[in-house]
Amino acid sequence: MGLKDKLDQLRQQGLTEVKASSDLNKINDIRVKMLGKKGPITEVLRGMRELSAEERPKIGQFANEVRDDLTNAIEAKRSELEQAKINAQLEHEKLDVTLPGNTVPQGQPHVIQQIIDQLVDLFIGMGYEVAIGDEVEEDHYNFEMLNLPKDHPARDMQDTFYVTPEILMRTQTSPMQARMLEQHDFTKGPLKMVSPGKVYRRDTDDATHSHQFHQVEGMVIGKHITMADLKGTLEVVAQELFGDELDVRLRPSYFPFTEPSVEADITCFNCHGRGCAICKQTGWIEVLGAGMTHPNVLKMASVDPEVYGGFAFGLGPDRFAMLKYGVEDIRDFYQNDVRFLTQFNQKG
Ligand code: PHE
Repeated sequence: MGLKDKLDQLRQQGLTEVKASSDLNKINDIRVKMLGKKGPITEVLRGMRELSAEERPKIGQFANEVRDDLTNAIEAKRSELEQAKINAQLEHEKLDVTLPGNTVPQGQPHVIQQIIDQLVDLFIGMGYEVAIGDEVEEDHYNFEMLNLPKDHPARDMQDTFYVTPEILMRTQTSPMQARMLEQHDFTKGPLKMVSPGKVYRRDTDDATHSHQFHQVEGMVIGKHITMADLKGTLEVVAQELFGDELDVRLRPSYFPFTEPSVEADITCFNCHGRGCAICKQTGWIEVLGAGMTHPNVLKMASVDPEVYGGFAFGLGPDRFAMLKYGVEDIRDFYQNDVRFLTQFNQKG
């Protein structure tokens, strides 16, 4: 048999073996066997020395063709098998994206924190700065600087947890009024601040009292600030929390650090003023204390009451949350029962 026929036969044999194999290792074996240094093709090529100078290039060219054919067939088979392997794997790992997912329990801000965040955002939008005070406060700021000297009878309005005779758990966020008044540089413009946080009173816990609750304090001091500004501000707050149609009504009240002092009522969101159990048939719900800052408070903080004046208010997010969601017992907010707390999610 001539070299050419031998090569042709080897090609047929190789192609048949490649075609028949379905295994990547086997393909590799065929490659080594047919095309390797010790393989039959190399051997045939070695025999070319005996050929005439005329025949040598022809056979050489043919041998190259055979080698290329086999190489191509092997590569084609290899990529076919590799692709099949990947396909099988993908098929095996296929995900049904329409199956319901596993829900991961997710936390959320406490309902009272949600109300505080909403209020604080509203005030930031109106150009107020946010001032965070300490829960452990000096008697000096919690009372004295707010026009409540040591013997003042109104101190009894707020039963106090004392840490030492001069240090206490703040009974209100109002000490931040005094602190901010002292710090503020009025040559740079008016003071507009909100101060949210926890406060403490020596109350016996019941459905409407908690020894620890929250307040959001607000204060605006500048030139030419009137009670109409206070009322307009409170209207914005009420409407943000309870909806556009609500009105605000101011009733005279008493706080040592404001004069005049008021209690603010909003239209009952439940009956819209017609009278129901929630508003005790009055059509109004009391939501906060406020007033025009007392000149003594300004004087004590070295702010001239002849030039500057303004208003302050203190509202209770706990009460707002109870009203908004119809919660009847304030203690529910503090018992950390997630079944209760996860019911309130403004953003979700
Ligand atoms: N600090 C008062 C309270 O706790 C509320 C208040 C704040 C009243 C600011 C007037 C001005 O009852």
